[in-house]
Amino acid sequence: MLNGKRVLLVIGGGIAAYKILELIRRLRERSIEVRVVMTQAAQQFITPLSVASLSGNKVHLDLFSLTDETEMGHIELSRSADLIVVAPATADLLAKMAHGLAQDLASTLLLATDKKILVAPAMNIRMWQHPATQRNIAQLQKDGVGFVGPNEGSMACGEFGPGRMSEPHEILSAIQTLLVGDTRLASPAVSSSQLLAGVHILVTSGPTHEPIDPVRYIANRSSGRQGHAIAAAAARAGARVTLISGPVEIPDPIGVQTLHVETAQEMFSQVQASLPADIFIGAAAVADWRVAEAGLQKMKKDGTPPAPLVLTENPDILASISKLPSNRPQLVVGFAAETDHVIAHAQAKLARKACDLILANDVSASEGVMGGPDNTVHLISQNKVESWPKMSKEQVAERLISHLAHLIGRAS
Ligand code: CTP
Repeated sequence: MLNGKRVLLVIGGGIAAYKILELIRRLRERSIEVRVVMTQAAQQFITPLSVASLSGNKVHLDLFSLTDETEMGHIELSRSADLIVVAPATADLLAKMAHGLAQDLASTLLLATDKKILVAPAMNIRMWQHPATQRNIAQLQKDGVGFVGPNEGSMACGEFGPGRMSEPHEILSAIQTLLVGDTRLASPAVSSSQLLAGVHILVTSGPTHEPIDPVRYIANRSSGRQGHAIAAAAARAGARVTLISGPVEIPDPIGVQTLHVETAQEMFSQVQASLPADIFIGAAAVADWRVAEAGLQKMKKDGTPPAPLVLTENPDILASISKLPSNRPQLVVGFAAETDHVIAHAQAKLARKACDLILANDVSASEGVMGGPDNTVHLISQNKVESWPKMSKEQVAERLISHLAHLIGRAS
């Protein structure tokens, strides 16, 4: 299905540009044709020669090039692609896109195109968090631009936080998703409604990994499929969606700002940094405990019995958001993963965590919910239990989002 598809890659000027060489190789391995435009700044980080050798095509650098205009002008360049990918997408490129500036070849063809655009942002954490960048991102999401990443981690500038470009395999899977037209991950541009326009929805998804030492961790079987499907459905309904995802194998939903974290503590701090939100949905399987003192070096066998693991409790993200004295989202929704007395345990959880709704599901191994495609849920509020039939996680997500739209007065 990917054979012969054409990607136009716009490489921006950031240290992450070196990872794009790997992306080009992987695209070519899948018989995807790659044409490349490099900004002037990009050429400070990688050379047009290496890009041309790997892509097998001439690299386009100038807006005004007589040969190019006779062979292939910038309009043609953007029109002949199936998908345009901007990576690394610098703060500057995102600002140009958000404001419709056309100052060089890259920004001109991004304005001239009628094709889907996917961006992989990469920048210093303060630039990422700056209100101007966040305003531009919100605008681009509204315009239907797809986002992959950024990830959280340590950056070349020595700081730690969101701003690292997604890894080539993550960008690749987002590209593949878009090229095969997977509507479950569709961007708001192809959304069917604007039911939730102007609403900010914050979603957690996936498991958390709690380190034991640098190579081992405590995890759980969550795949992130339900949480990611909810984020995608919310984006399709026109909401601005921030997804805080633990380590998962599935791609970032397109049209959703996805931040990647490992531990419960990191998830909590990203959730706090992403407030205010109108709706919070805690779909992550957050580890209840972490190792009190994770080893800084790999623990070695030394012939004596292993030391017991001492655990300490993680912050309860859902309960904390629910009980915020100010800034509490209008609706706080949790999940209850239970293996017995599903409804009774979930009702107790609703009261204990002071949330407005709980989606309770049976995660016994025999049900195949953890990691599987389907889910059977009960929607529990303070005075009602609504049992939904077994359906796909995407259908659960659609139904939940229309229920929430109804609750905040945006009836469909
Ligand atoms: N949750 C959270 N932070 C935690 C633990 C759970 O935000 N530290 C959220 C989950 O995202 C989910 C809900 O709380 O929305 C319930 O998670 P679950 O694992 O079912 O409940 P627990 O709090 O772990 O309770 P128990 O161990 O008693 O089942």
